[in-house]
Amino acid sequence: MSGWWREAALYQIYPRSFQDTDGNGIGDLEGICRRLDHIADLGVGAVWLSPIFRSPMADFGYDVSDYRDIDPVFGDMAAFDRLLEETHARGLKLLLDFVPNHSSDQHPWFQESRSSRDNPKRDWYIWHDPAPDGGPPNNWMSNFGGSAWEWDEHTDQYYYHAFLAEQPDLNWRNPDVRAAMRDVLRFWLDKGVDGFRVDVIWHLIKDAEFRDNPLNPHYDASHPDIDRYLQVYSADQPEVHDVIAELRAVIDSYDDRLLIGEIYLPIERLMTYYGRDNSGVHLPFNFQLIQCAWNADAIGSLIHEYESALPEGGWPNWVLSNHDQPRIAARVGEAQARVAAMLLLTLRGTPTLYYGDEIGIADVDMTEEEVLDPAAINEPGVSFNRDRSRTPMQWSDKPVAGFSDGKPWLPLTQDWRERNAAVQRQDPASLLNLHRALLHIRSIEPDLLSGAYRRIDMDEDVLAYERGASIAVILNLSSEPVELSLPDKWKAARVLLSVRSAQALNEVPANLAGAEGVILKIKDAE
Ligand code: NOJ
Repeated sequence: MSGWWREAALYQIYPRSFQDTDGNGIGDLEGICRRLDHIADLGVGAVWLSPIFRSPMADFGYDVSDYRDIDPVFGDMAAFDRLLEETHARGLKLLLDFVPNHSSDQHPWFQESRSSRDNPKRDWYIWHDPAPDGGPPNNWMSNFGGSAWEWDEHTDQYYYHAFLAEQPDLNWRNPDVRAAMRDVLRFWLDKGVDGFRVDVIWHLIKDAEFRDNPLNPHYDASHPDIDRYLQVYSADQPEVHDVIAELRAVIDSYDDRLLIGEIYLPIERLMTYYGRDNSGVHLPFNFQLIQCAWNADAIGSLIHEYESALPEGGWPNWVLSNHDQPRIAARVGEAQARVAAMLLLTLRGTPTLYYGDEIGIADVDMTEEEVLDPAAINEPGVSFNRDRSRTPMQWSDKPVAGFSDGKPWLPLTQDWRERNAAVQRQDPASLLNLHRALLHIRSIEPDLLSGAYRRIDMDEDVLAYERGASIAVILNLSSEPVELSLPDKWKAARVLLSVRSAQALNEVPANLAGAEGVILKIKDAE
């Protein structure tokens, strides 16, 4: 089976927050270049950059006004070319974030589209007459609050935006839009990028009749507006798979490139995004661990459900955090964040790490006035403030954690003087060194890459599993010690790594301390 991405761990960078080099408090491409050694040393195989394209930044780059240019805040095309070269020089792959569902309202395509009803680009976006009462055409809500329809006075119609009004949705039923977007992919693939993460891929096609979404019986006012209705007609339509197959065909016309889809759907719907005969995305992002209760029972059931639902030839993947969700250390605390790292890096499938999780960055104190995330500004208190997961990377105990010479665009977390990459590099037991050890072991143990996953029943707080015939993993998901009753063949195993020490152990422990975990190499298999 070909595909470097089956073996590589992916590392997501939020470019605004990785490394600033020009003192404006916002990270840039030159900064990423300077920090590539950190990434290579960690042992991941690929870097995915959240959007770096030209953008008015209404949604911090997820509103693209030119798909073929770099935003000046991040640098220019020469800086990108250098970054690509430097990334490849370290044996790493580079993935970009493709945002095809919507553009910025400043994109020339939308400017043309909104200029008149008979403009040739009118149909590139989703325009609709008002409902008979003059209101929005249907009840579809924006993910960032309020109706998803914006009235355009100039042409007397509404346009649809699943996110901000500054992010009008493109009309993917229009073949010219599809062709233009395929050209965008080719532009970057020709440059040598190794693939894309595709933003909200399950949104690309909407119901052709624009039917109202049904009410969500579980909605209450503690939820954002988007949860008022079940998204039956506004996303995840059958025709989306034809669009994805077209994108995949472009990817497959180049050697060994990767297509990942961002998809928040229940497992059985998620699986359809592998596509008929695996003609969909290579990896439909699996966010289940982000949403799962943190206990052995829930996680064990989830892994079982996910593994059992995979279609033939579908390669699994796992994600713990990203730029839209609370970080793992904020969700479960530092001790369990260490256990989570062992889980993520010993499950079957491609893992994605989020920058900063390798040093356990958690949450940040922010006042309401400091909030920049448009989703949180629109729906304060009910929508998660994503700024909290986008704070600058903490490199050292130098000013601004070595991130910038200026005022950072978002505050650092409180503990940056103690929690930073430089300090953790020196500490053999640090979370950073735990990640390095895990990624190393993952790279030299073939069963960790491809061995079958089999859960082994143990104490209710323990999640234990085998990977192939040679590896066993035991994780204590509680903060209390547990006594282990181990299968005989595990007792004589070699302990390759412990969560708490980030080192090998001399013998298999009879009890597992709270938040401890071990990787065992089973002897008969050696
Ligand atoms: C999903 C992205 O991850 C998120 O950050 C963004 O706001 C929306 N899509 C809209 O592009």
